[in-house]
Amino acid sequence: MLPFAMSPQNINSSANITSGKNDKNIVREYFNNTGFERWQKIYGDGPVNRVQQSIRTGHQQTVDTVLKWLGEDLSGVSICDAGCGLGSLSLPLAERGAQVSGFDISEKMIGEAIQIRNTACTSTQNPHFEVREVEAITGKYDVVICLDVLIHYPLEDVEKMLAHLSSLSRSRLLLTFAPKTPFLTILKKVGGFFPGASKTTRAYQHREKDILAILQKLGWTLSHRAAIDDKFYFARLFEAKR
Ligand SMILES: C[S@@+](CC[C@H](N)C(=O)[O-])C[C@H]1O[C@@H](n2cnc3c(N)ncnc32)[C@H](O)[C@@H]1O
Repeated sequence: MLPFAMSPQNINSSANITSGKNDKNIVREYFNNTGFERWQKIYGDGPVNRVQQSIRTGHQQTVDTVLKWLGEDLSGVSICDAGCGLGSLSLPLAERGAQVSGFDISEKMIGEAIQIRNTACTSTQNPHFEVREVEAITGKYDVVICLDVLIHYPLEDVEKMLAHLSSLSRSRLLLTFAPKTPFLTILKKVGGFFPGASKTTRAYQHREKDILAILQKLGWTLSHRAAIDDKFYFARLFEAKR
C-alpha cells in the first residue's frame, strides 16, 4: 500500500530509520489539515486525478477483501477499526450487524465519520466513533482491524502498535502495510514516478518477513494474505488468527 502520491524523499524503509519519535504528531497534524482534505476527496465519489483514482480503487479493493473474509453476517461480532478514518470500513461492517468501534488520531476524520454515519442512519450509534490513537484504545474485541495506518510508522513503532492491537483482540487481527519489495525500491529511485510531494506525508515500507515475525512473536498465525496493487497503491493485507 502506498496510499499517497509519493516522492522519493518521503518514502522511508524500516531499515534506514533511526527515530520515529515525531511521526505521531506529524501524522495527526497532517490528517487534521491537508491530509483531511485530500483523503476526504479520495474516499468520496467525486472527480479525482489519476493518482487519487488509483488509490481510491486500491483502497476499495482492500475494504472489499476484508468484508469478503469476514463474511455477510456479523451479528454479535465486536470489531475495533483502529485508524478508521472516515469509516469506509466501519460503516459496512456495522451494516452487516457487527458492533463496531472506530478510533482515529485525527479529530477532523472522526468528526466527518460521525457526520457520514448520522446522515446514513439516524437511529443508531453504531459504529461508535472516537478520537483516540492506536496505543490508547481500550477494551476487548472479537476482531481488530488496522488498514492503511502502519504505512505512517517505522518498524519500531509498528511493533509497539501491533503488540497493543494484539492485546485488544480475542480471535482475529487484520492489517495492511506497504511492502518493501525490490520492484518498489527501484521505483523509489526513479525520481518522477511518485508525483505530488507537497500533498504527501512521510511513508514507510516494511518487509513482509518483519511483519510476520512480529505477529508470530505475539502468538498469531497467518490465515489469509492478499497483495493489492494498483498503479499508485500497493498493500499487503494480512489476517492472523490465534
Ligand atoms: C490512509 S487513512 C486510512 C483510514 C481507514 N483505515 C481506511 O482504510 O479507510 C489513515 C488513517 O489513520 C489514522 N492514524 C494514523 N496514525 C494513527 C494512530 N497512531 N492512531 C490512530 N489513528 C491513526 C489517520 O488519522 C487516518 O485517518
